[in-house]
Amino acid sequence: MNILVVGSGGREHAMAWKIKPSPKVNKLFIAPGNAGTRELGTNIPVGVTDFEGLKKAILDNQIDLVVVGPEVPLCEGLTDFILNDDQLKNLKVVGPQKQGAMLEGSKDFAKEFMQRHQIPTARYQTVTVDTLSEGLAFLSSLKAPYVLKADGLAAGKGVLIISSLEEAEKSLKEMLAGQFGSASSKVVIEEFLSGIECSVFAITDGINYKILPEAKDYKRIGEGDTGLNTGGMGAISPVPFCDARFMKKVEDAIVRPTVAGLANENIPYKGFIFFGLINCNGDPYVIEYNVRMGDPETEAVMLRIKSDFVDLLEGAATGTLADKAIEFDPRTAVTVMMVSGGYPGDYAKGKVMTGFEKNEGSILFHAGTKLSGNAVVTDGGRVLAVSSYGNSINEALALSYSNAAKIDFEGKYYRKDLGFDLV
Ligand code: AMP
Ligand code: GLY
Repeated sequence: MNILVVGSGGREHAMAWKIKPSPKVNKLFIAPGNAGTRELGTNIPVGVTDFEGLKKAILDNQIDLVVVGPEVPLCEGLTDFILNDDQLKNLKVVGPQKQGAMLEGSKDFAKEFMQRHQIPTARYQTVTVDTLSEGLAFLSSLKAPYVLKADGLAAGKGVLIISSLEEAEKSLKEMLAGQFGSASSKVVIEEFLSGIECSVFAITDGINYKILPEAKDYKRIGEGDTGLNTGGMGAISPVPFCDARFMKKVEDAIVRPTVAGLANENIPYKGFIFFGLINCNGDPYVIEYNVRMGDPETEAVMLRIKSDFVDLLEGAATGTLADKAIEFDPRTAVTVMMVSGGYPGDYAKGKVMTGFEKNEGSILFHAGTKLSGNAVVTDGGRVLAVSSYGNSINEALALSYSNAAKIDFEGKYYRKDLGFDLV
């Protein structure tokens, strides 16, 4: 098969790395890809929401299977576009249509879905300008801290956790007045849940599913989980507290009812489901759904999938996942994200990166890089994911840290305390 991966981050590089060795692959393409993916396949300079450009790339390169990495093209209907096009409709696509992508694209839709299917999640109320007074009443019925979420996609910035009621009331009004544009014309107010978070992933063909290795990601910029939220500063898999007992609860109470709920509501769904969970005293609750793999979790999770990933992708796209096997690598896998100085605030791009050849034993997934002449230069906030195997969390982290130390670019930063809450 000829395969196209849509996206340009570390997640897509890690997927390409896992796709490339499959005996089922003829040619691999990445659109638009980055300086790392070009070593695994052919980068096609087309943006992820340029549907006509992607169509041309698919036809020109006789693509058989498309995997969509990020949420934005899914929420904008890339899969629907492909399946409704006469020339493309026989393509195998991994990534849900718009309707299924609402699980991520609308927090209110996701909460209503969970409520309909009795999936454990925080109590909530959805508010618009017209129902502000009910929202304020619900807020004052909750205990601090207060959780306010913009309903729509807000590039990971749409969730506010606020300690005082007065501040929360003020923020609610600001959000409804357009703080996050149309994404916050509806706001979900949630009860705060206290516990430790983890990310669980499933691939599904809409009926059957396979649970992938779980991971823990580290979202804050600062050590000890302090400072601003980022796209993710690193990930660890497996997660020690996600033992067989906990994972059975996750499957019984969350994964199976989610997939069955989609099927019962006739929502077609062929792709990944990312369950952002919180462990409250041993019981899992859903914090959020995403309709794609996590980043940087994928840069650890791919290392732990032993079976042929392309076989799983094909199973999801063709409704034959029940016939597929999934086997995990028993080792620990971690990824350490190297970021540009200043991120997640303002940062410079175009810094020359050196030291790649000194890497010993880690796998380097490019997150935000590009080629400038012969040099690899930084091209984003999150720059490079340094992934490693180990027999323990500490062993795998030590390897990633030793290789991260050898990669240089002006302003480089990475957290050195990953796993502090696990080991
Ligand atoms: P989200 O974008 O929905 O993943 O939310 C971002 C982060 O906010 C999550 O990773 C949690 O750390 C936190 N969060 C969201 N909802 C809740 C909640 N109901 N209780 C506690 N923390 C939450
Ligand atoms: N690592 C969290 C996310 O991909 O949204």
